[in-house]
Amino acid sequence: MKLLVAYATTEGQARKTARHLTERAHGAGHTVEMLALADADGVNPSGFDGVVLAASIHASQYQSALGDFAAREAEALNRVPTLFVSVSLAAAGHSAEEWRSLDRILADFTKATGWTPGQVEQVAGAYRPGQYDIIRRFIMRQIISDRDPDADPGQDKEYTDWDALDTAFDAWLASLSG
Ligand SMILES: Cc1cc2nc3c(=O)[nH]c(=O)nc-3n(C[C@H](O)[C@H](O)[C@H](O)COP(=O)(O)O)c2cc1C
Repeated sequence: MKLLVAYATTEGQARKTARHLTERAHGAGHTVEMLALADADGVNPSGFDGVVLAASIHASQYQSALGDFAAREAEALNRVPTLFVSVSLAAAGHSAEEWRSLDRILADFTKATGWTPGQVEQVAGAYRPGQYDIIRRFIMRQIISDRDPDADPGQDKEYTDWDALDTAFDAWLASLSG
């Protein structure tokens, strides 16, 4: 199969996720084109057997590069098998309210772009204080201390469950050939 894996990221976790999936798909014998959505001008989803888009949430929104690409290519994306990997810190927890917020953000996104992903994976992201400016570092420090009292607010912490993501990705890959 020929796959497109495209991502938008702010602090790097969605790119890391995209790289991980690209390597896994290569390992399974697929051909993969991986690129940043910011560089996806002229890329046509119709040329692929399956498309994975990954992006992360900041202040309840995905990166505009994702929205721009999804809106521009909605028709083609709706015709090929797609997997949307949504990276956030809300997905690291069990708060029903936060999970409802993920549903809302996704519903607003699909309505705004016209693209309905074939499969959606809500994936826990990472806390990376070294990547934040001083204001974000202060805000995120409060947030991480509230949600994860065991975390050291001065250190990076990754919440991504790679095994769960692999299981979901393998099932999606299998559905392409099925
Ligand atoms: C300024 C800022 C705002 C964020 N807003 C949200 C949010 O609204 N909801 C959420 O679940 N996670 C939020 N996060 C957490 C990010 O989604 C998480 O850190 C993710 O791993 C970032 O992915 P990236 O490295 O690909 O940009 C926020 C993070 C930052 C730094």
